[in-house]
Amino acid sequence: MPAIFKSILLSAALWSLLAAAQPYRHGGWKKVPVGKAIYFLTNDAVNAVVAVPVAADGTLSYGTVTGTGGAGSSSISGSTMMPSAPDALLSQNALTIAGQNLFAVNSGSNTLTMMSICESDPTVLTLVGTVSIPGEFPNTVAASAKNNLVCVGSTGAKAGISCATFSSTAGLSEMDFLRPFDLGQSTPPIGPTNTVSQTFFSEDESLLLTTVKGDPTANKTGFLSVFPVNPRCGCGPASLSAKDTRSSPPGTAVLFGSEPIPGGSTVFVVDASFGAVVLSLDEETRKASLVAKQVIGDQQATCWATISPATDSAFVTDPLVNHIVEMSLSDAKIISAVNTTTANAGTGFIDLKAAGNFIYALSPGNGSTEAEVVVLDVSRGQGSAKVIQTFGLNALGVGKTAQGMQVFM
Ligand SMILES: *[C@@H]1O[C@H](CO)[C@@H](O)[C@H](O)[C@H]1NC(C)=O
Ligand SMILES: *[C@@H]1O[C@H](CO)[C@@H](O)[C@H](O)[C@H]1NC(C)=O
Ligand SMILES: *[C@@H]1O[C@H](CO)[C@@H](O)[C@H](O)[C@H]1NC(C)=O
Repeated sequence: MPAIFKSILLSAALWSLLAAAQPYRHGGWKKVPVGKAIYFLTNDAVNAVVAVPVAADGTLSYGTVTGTGGAGSSSISGSTMMPSAPDALLSQNALTIAGQNLFAVNSGSNTLTMMSICESDPTVLTLVGTVSIPGEFPNTVAASAKNNLVCVGSTGAKAGISCATFSSTAGLSEMDFLRPFDLGQSTPPIGPTNTVSQTFFSEDESLLLTTVKGDPTANKTGFLSVFPVNPRCGCGPASLSAKDTRSSPPGTAVLFGSEPIPGGSTVFVVDASFGAVVLSLDEETRKASLVAKQVIGDQQATCWATISPATDSAFVTDPLVNHIVEMSLSDAKIISAVNTTTANAGTGFIDLKAAGNFIYALSPGNGSTEAEVVVLDVSRGQGSAKVIQTFGLNALGVGKTAQGMQVFM
């Protein structure tokens, strides 16, 4: 090949590399991939997973609705004694993704559904199987691709953690046993306090962490539960240990949505009673201690959190305050607050998930206001978040009980 063509090809390749490499941060170019599709649950009586494709510019359009074969349900609001919505499940991670597999809880039928995500079109979901859960009102699920282990948190009259193994070829095993949390709850539970919030694996997938809300009015302390994973060995598959370690870091009361902070043993956790904390997890004792605590002055109930790889910061939501707050991963200090009053017809947001340069936040509305997903662009780094789209969900038949948010990359 003539040298001139080689150099044209080379510069074209270099150009496309540079064009794809943004934003500029930490003194280097970093390519941040865009999600392919977002997922959440309708959590209706006939439960379904909604999948909405993401365009190259981060925006949403169309979508599919695939039945889980199970039933959704709603918790009862302790203040009105009526079914509560938005936030029918009082949880983060009502569905989760590991590899090409998606897992969703059916809080009304006490089952877990596994689906496979189609590689060429991630909005095409195929039912793989459904298993019964030994707990009642399952509201949160975590899956470890490394251990082929999926664990569910239940928060009804039978509350606790139970797990199954999975593989893309064999599907789901039966669930093992319930590792109980003694909450004294009913089915459906009366909340939002005194319920399981979120179950999730540590970054290295060696521990299963679960946040459980206390009830300050009843002098009941919330806690972080930590179960070690028994890794896969010659004699059998990985499993979750039977016994956990619990700790109640001072100053916390209603621990809710969480995410491990990449590259260490710290976890970012919101607390519905005041804002957010950074916790440090001791690898020996498996107990959490407080690193930093931040009050969000005008908050009502800060319940969901996600960490953005584009900004190295956390974004948190509140169902009763129409804002999305960005916080530091080192000390939880407030970096910015996006006023979403004009973008979101609801009173605030529930689940949200960061993916690439964007953040997807769910606002299920109240039955008369439309359920929506609001998309934020965070490509310009910390403090830059701005709304780029409000995607209405009436056309997909999604209502106020919707819950969960995940992104397939
Ligand atoms: C709450 O618990 C603490 C510690 O057990 C106790 O000292 C305090 O009296 C209790 N308060 C109420 C209102 O029951
Ligand atoms: C958010 O924006 C609305 C509409 O512009 C305004 O009325 C409200 O005061 C703002 N809220 C805050 C906390 O700035
Ligand atoms: C839903 O919210 C809208 C706007 O805040 C309000 O006008 C309406 O009364 C609410 N509906 C219900 C059923 O709470």
